[in-house]
Amino acid sequence: MSRIDSLIAAMTLTEKLGQMTMATADSVITGAVMRTGVDAGITSGAIGNVLNLYGADKTRAAQRLALETSRLKIPLLLGLDIIHGHRTIFPIPLGETAAFDPALWEATAREAAREGAADGLHMTFAPMLDVARDPRWGRIAEGPGEDSFVAQAMARAKVKGFQAADLTGADTLAACAKHYCAYGAVTAGRDYAATDVTPRALREIYLPPFEAAIGAGVATIMPAFTSIDGVPLSAHRALLKDYLRGRLGFDGVLVSDYNAIAELIHHGVAADLTEAAALALQAGIDIDMMANAYHDGLPLALERGLVTMADVDASVRRVLRLKEQLGLFDDPYRRGGTESATVLAARRQLAREAATRSIVLLKNEDAALPLGEGRLAVIGPLADAPGEMRGCWSAAGVAGDCVSVLAGLRFALPHRSIRYAPGVDIESSDDSGIAAAAALCDEADAILLCLGESVAMSGEASCRAHPGLPGKQAALVDAVLARARGKKVIVMLFSGRPLVVPDLVARADAVLAAWAPGCEAGNALADLLTGRASPSGRTPISWPRAIGQIPVFFGERPTGRPANPADHYTSKYLDEANEPLFPFGHGLTYGDPVYSGLQVTPDMAGPLGSFTVSVRLANRGVHAASETVFLFARDKVASVSRPMELKGFERITLKPDESGIVTFQLATQDLRFPGPDLEPLFEPGEIEILVGPSADRTRLLTATVNLV
Ligand code: NOJ
Repeated sequence: MSRIDSLIAAMTLTEKLGQMTMATADSVITGAVMRTGVDAGITSGAIGNVLNLYGADKTRAAQRLALETSRLKIPLLLGLDIIHGHRTIFPIPLGETAAFDPALWEATAREAAREGAADGLHMTFAPMLDVARDPRWGRIAEGPGEDSFVAQAMARAKVKGFQAADLTGADTLAACAKHYCAYGAVTAGRDYAATDVTPRALREIYLPPFEAAIGAGVATIMPAFTSIDGVPLSAHRALLKDYLRGRLGFDGVLVSDYNAIAELIHHGVAADLTEAAALALQAGIDIDMMANAYHDGLPLALERGLVTMADVDASVRRVLRLKEQLGLFDDPYRRGGTESATVLAARRQLAREAATRSIVLLKNEDAALPLGEGRLAVIGPLADAPGEMRGCWSAAGVAGDCVSVLAGLRFALPHRSIRYAPGVDIESSDDSGIAAAAALCDEADAILLCLGESVAMSGEASCRAHPGLPGKQAALVDAVLARARGKKVIVMLFSGRPLVVPDLVARADAVLAAWAPGCEAGNALADLLTGRASPSGRTPISWPRAIGQIPVFFGERPTGRPANPADHYTSKYLDEANEPLFPFGHGLTYGDPVYSGLQVTPDMAGPLGSFTVSVRLANRGVHAASETVFLFARDKVASVSRPMELKGFERITLKPDESGIVTFQLATQDLRFPGPDLEPLFEPGEIEILVGPSADRTRLLTATVNLV
């Protein structure tokens, strides 16, 4: 008998349900429910998994409790939300996505795993793969933006980074692809609201990132809090048992979201905890996080015949197998230890690189950046706010570890006059500091305005119906611009989402979307502002001109009545442009990359063929250019109307006057789409290939090839 078989044979029902239960320790609270009596539960075998406990000593003590006081001595599984770094905080995921570099995404996950594992953890609840197109939704900050192809690349990179080649490694964490699925499509961008998503949208947009994560070997998956077409994901047999497990072959652990099984009652699909627990188990959820539904509900569900002991055993087996894969049976204390100063310093350096590459230069009129000589006025509530640089979900991140913009600039420019005033708070209505802050403009040659949201304004349950500048920041902007009198005004926007700030963008000379850059924020921004680094971030999400445009994204399907200003009965607004303020992929660099010579060979290919797509870039600017080149494709005539789709992205860095060629391989298999029956379909016909710096069609070079 295998170790797992013997354990299952020896277990009482309470012990089995314990392996299917995850309870929070009291260190970090990430939901409404708090669990007490965790220690007693570990000893009795009623709790086999714990979240929100970290630190080598604490985790070791908890593990010792399980191994020394519980009957079967099964090691605990310890998990935490390590979303964008553990203690060393990298940019928020939306920001890091802007680097468009899977190698970087993997590297930060690798370092986060090493740091988390050194703190005694086994599992992270990441990556978050929710494609999202509604900036009102606070959790857009945690994900990869609006595009499914990007989310798939992110899935592969993050799973590889967290889990490395083999989960037994003492520096690995089991990853958790979440939130399965279409959580990003919540109604009106309001967290936890229901979603009504078509089966086609699931197949085209929301399922592929999870398929990619499974392909990369993800150990666990978390169903979303939300419902799709009336069925909550925590009870969705068709999407969990049939699709994930049956079709995609996922045999890892399904862990519920926080209290989500009990919430089946509020969803109106379960009358009580027993029914809720039965529905979740029938759907295939192995671990109940914080609802206590399995512990309290499954005994009765078994009695009533709603579930079988075989269902229970199958889940227990998957949990024990994960613990085995993590090497916990062989050495439960393998994770947890100290790291050398060299490792920590290299990690900080990576954080600086990631931050530098995540920041997007949205506008740079008359080469306002990089900064010239002269005195600086640094103004705004985010200028000297180290804690705010962390962004949402930074459980082990410490404000004191973070470098503010002001500190970064003072360090980078020690001989420069740099005067600072916050002017206003992020959110309050106190405007008493505005006049003094605006007065700094008189003594400055350039003005740096640091504006945006607080950490608490994005992330879970942090949705905004007015995703603009909060508090009195707009008044501060007015006062500063009035006083600037032609001096350059550079705006740094800190936010967990694209902000709807068209007037601000129109009036500033330069605008940087800094997102929440993490612990190296100030150093990264100083590198970019001074020109030590050339901006290279590209927005992974469209920036709306108006809230009324939401959702605005590049992958819209064609309409029978394309917008035509001369024709009233076409698809457009009367009072606003259709296009976003900044399209997906937009981002400037200090150089001036010019595209030419798009070539696609051969010009036709069959189902097993591929195309080589190449384009020449020349840097005509006086600074280095760091360019991300996007490859899109569009099936011109198909049995199902096709949007323009992202098929590749590549980076190139060019010195002034340098030129280079960027090449993509595009397999014709990747031009398949879900056909009328939603199965992948290869359809002969013309494909438009579009290559350029963003999804703005007017700036894309095009060619046409044939699928035969
Ligand atoms: C709720 C969130 O939805 C999920 O993403 C997170 O992993 C859990 N809480 C645990 O903190």
